[in-house]
Parts: sequence; structure tokens; C-alpha cells
Amino acid sequence: MKQLQFDFNNMLSLNVGAKHGITDSELRHVAKKVREAHIHLQNIVASPENRAHLGLEWIVLPRQEEKAIRRIQRLGREISRGYENVIFLGIGGSFLGLKAAQDALCAPYYNDFAGIRQGKPRIYFEGNNLDPEPLNTLLGSLNPKRTFVIVISKSGETTETRAAFTMVEQWLKKGVGARYGRQIVAITDPVAGSLRKRVTEEQRKDTKSFRSLPVIKGVGGRYSEFNMGLLHLAIIGVDLTGVLKGAQLMVRRCTAASLYKNPAYLYAALQYLAYQKKGKSIAILMPFSETLKSTADWYVQLLAESLGKKYGRRIVRYSGNLERWDQDRDTVVNVGRTPVSARGTNDLHSIQQNTIEGENNKTVTFIRVGRFRHDITLPPTGDFLSGRSYARLLGLAQEATEWALTRERRPSCTIYVPEVTPFYWAQLLMFFEIATALEGELLGVNAFDQPGVEGYKQYMYYILKKPGIPQRIARDIQSHPVRKKAGFIV
Ligand code: PA5
Repeated sequence: MKQLQFDFNNMLSLNVGAKHGITDSELRHVAKKVREAHIHLQNIVASPENRAHLGLEWIVLPRQEEKAIRRIQRLGREISRGYENVIFLGIGGSFLGLKAAQDALCAPYYNDFAGIRQGKPRIYFEGNNLDPEPLNTLLGSLNPKRTFVIVISKSGETTETRAAFTMVEQWLKKGVGARYGRQIVAITDPVAGSLRKRVTEEQRKDTKSFRSLPVIKGVGGRYSEFNMGLLHLAIIGVDLTGVLKGAQLMVRRCTAASLYKNPAYLYAALQYLAYQKKGKSIAILMPFSETLKSTADWYVQLLAESLGKKYGRRIVRYSGNLERWDQDRDTVVNVGRTPVSARGTNDLHSIQQNTIEGENNKTVTFIRVGRFRHDITLPPTGDFLSGRSYARLLGLAQEATEWALTRERRPSCTIYVPEVTPFYWAQLLMFFEIATALEGELLGVNAFDQPGVEGYKQYMYYILKKPGIPQRIARDIQSHPVRKKAGFIV
């Protein structure tokens, strides 16, 4: 069977020299650290308790109970057959994986042409911004009677999702009447949060209203596509077992202890070395595929929220093998590579100029697709493009970009995806998730929290007078005003 391949030739001194590329001895040296990180992660994964409370439950998602999967598949079919439109509400990890799946696994222009959708509903994503324009347009254009709504929020508290859900709910109620709740599914924490509370209340009144699926304990938003994203996949007609098989295969490959046999570990180790030893602090992910652009956007969140951290991690062990991760407030580390999502060939006419000639502080990861669902062959015009296929031209553009970067001693690497199918796409996601977890270990940070995201939320809650804001946060906001001098605004 074909599988994903990781080509790291151009990350090495072999091709880009020792100033910018990783040497054999650097790689040998980091192998020991990788081995320790591997043992630590494996110990956590082996303990269901550790897995759940540290946030590593996502690694066992490919082995979910068949019964639960069948239930999701059934619900997906029901929604898909019964409605013309489905609106998904969610932001961050409750949105990006679904959008990535939508663009990778459905044909382009899916929403525009009934022939492409083959009886499936149009899919819309909302609640991922507070810009009023898109939601306004959408609700002004869709028929509520023909629209199903899926609201996704692990916490059930996120402002963007909550605001959009309030609007959409009102719209549904007005257009559908008292039983509008039957057109809603909530995906949220199984016990906590105001969305779960709402589900419980509505279910008490009508069991067909506000049906729900749980966000599994220990699965953070950005690691949740194989949990929160499954209903969306079922609605667009993706076979969930194929997806989970792909993810499972990658878990098997990427939990091999040997660095040289484990593509995710190699990826993490090389990126870590490029960052720490060669100053490559910017990580460009550049699929040569239009349909994988949103997958690159998903990766941006994964890398940024997982590894961009102010404090190091302090491991506290208790009750035998259980551990807790605290922020080590005595150690400000301010680490994390800055992710950038780009796409070939589009961005060869944009960011590429800077990548080639700007500061040599980046690595580029290409994703190259082996076979496309449909290719185009140009007619025999007699010029240099005559009879060429688009797939060949795209592949050549990637090869050319790789060459141009290498000539300028700029490190890059390539992930080969045989085809963009659910099976391979799931492998790609799991590859990045495991690589990110390992890189978190190498950096000594908690890759499963996102304390930095709280700042803006707390400020908004404070201004909007959300009940329950701790005094400490209110004092912090009051004592750190942003000074706005009129003279500095022209
Ligand atoms: O990765 C994460 O955990 C975050 O990006 C969340 O997904 C995001 O903040 C949305 O949170 P919630 O699902 O609680 O609405």
C-alpha cells in the first residue's frame, strides 16, 4: 500500500550547508532527546487518566467504539438527506479541521453546483468571526426550514460561537416555529458549560430537540478533527472508517521509537534543530494543491497555539505515575516557530520572493500530491505547454521551487501524499499532530493548552460585564491601560 513519505534531504547540510542545514552529528545528538520525549509521551498515552487530563486523548481517537461511529454516520445521513443547507458554528479548533476537510475531501465549488454535491447539502461555516457581514448575508439568503444547524464549542462559552448561535437560533425559531430545536445538534463538553446546560434543558422538554455529541475529555480543539469533525464528514458522505484507518496507520508509524523510522519525530526534530541551532523561526507550510490550503490554515493553529508559549512546563508527579503540568512561572521562554500558510503555485507570485531573498530565517514544508482526482491535459498548441498535464506542471513547479530554495541555501522538506483521499488526509493530520506533540516535549512546553488566547477573551468579558470575572483579572486590566495619545493618531 502507498503511504505518506517525508523527504528531508533539503533540511540537511548535505544540500544547504552546515550554516543553515542540519548536520549528521546534530541529528545524532538530538536523537537521545527524542528518545526521552518518546518514552515520556508513551507513558502518558499508556495511562488513560494521564491521557485525559493532560490532553493527549486525541491519539486514541482512531480507535473509537464502532457503535459511536455508526451513530454519527446515521445522524449524518439523516441530516444530509433531510436538508438543503447545513450551517456549522464554531471557531479555532471547532472550525479549522472541518473547513480543512471540506476543502480537501469535497470537489471544488461544492456549494455552487448540485451535480457536484450529488444530493448532499450545501455547507456553510459561521461563528468564526465577529464580522457581521457574512452571517447577515447568509441568514438573509437561506431558507430556515431547509437548514440544519450544528453548533460546536468544547467550552460552550466562546463569544464568537455564542453570538452566532444566538442569532441563528432566533432566525430558526422565527422561520420554523416551536420545534426549531429539532434542526439543531450541539457538539460540546459532555457535562460542563452553558451549551451543555442548554442541551440538557431542551432535551428535557423534547428529546428530539437539541441533540448532542460529546467532545471527548482530553481532546483539545485543535487536536479534535477525529472527534468534533466526524459529523461533518458523515454529512458530506465520507466513510468514517476510512478516515480513522488512515489516522490509526499514522499513529502506528509515528509511535516507532527509532527517530529514523518515525516520520513525525524526524519532522519535529529537524524543525526543532533548525529553530534552535540555525535561527529558522518561521515555518511556512506550502501545499502544492488548492484543496489543501485550508489544511495548511488548520496547521497554523496547531503549531501556533501548541508551541507558542511564554512559560516552560513544570512536571509534577503524584500518586504513582500520574502527572500534572504546571506553567513554570520562574522561566519565561517565549518560544515557538511562527507558522505561515501558503499555497503553490499561487503564492510563488507573492510570499516566495521574500522566502528566496528575504531573511534566511524560515523553513518551508511542501506538500506534494501524487495523483489528482481529475487532471487536465493542455491541447497540442505547439508551444512549450503543448500536451502537458496540469498535474505535471504543478509537480514541476514544486520541484523548481525546491531547487531555487536549495540553491539559495534555504532549508525545505516535502511531504508526499499519494492522493487527497480521506485515508491519506487523515494520515496527514495525525502526522502533524504527533510531530507537534513531540516538538512540545523537545521545547519543554505544554503543547495542549493555550493560555495566551485568554487575554483578549478576558478583556472582552470584563468590558461586556460577563458575570464571574475574577477580581484578579479585573485588577490586571485596570492596571495595564493601553495609552492612546491623540498626537499619535494622524
Ligand atoms: O484548540 C483550542 O482548544 C482552541 O482553539 C479552541 O478550539 C477555540 O478557542 C474554540 O473553543 P471552544 O470549542 O471552546 O468554543
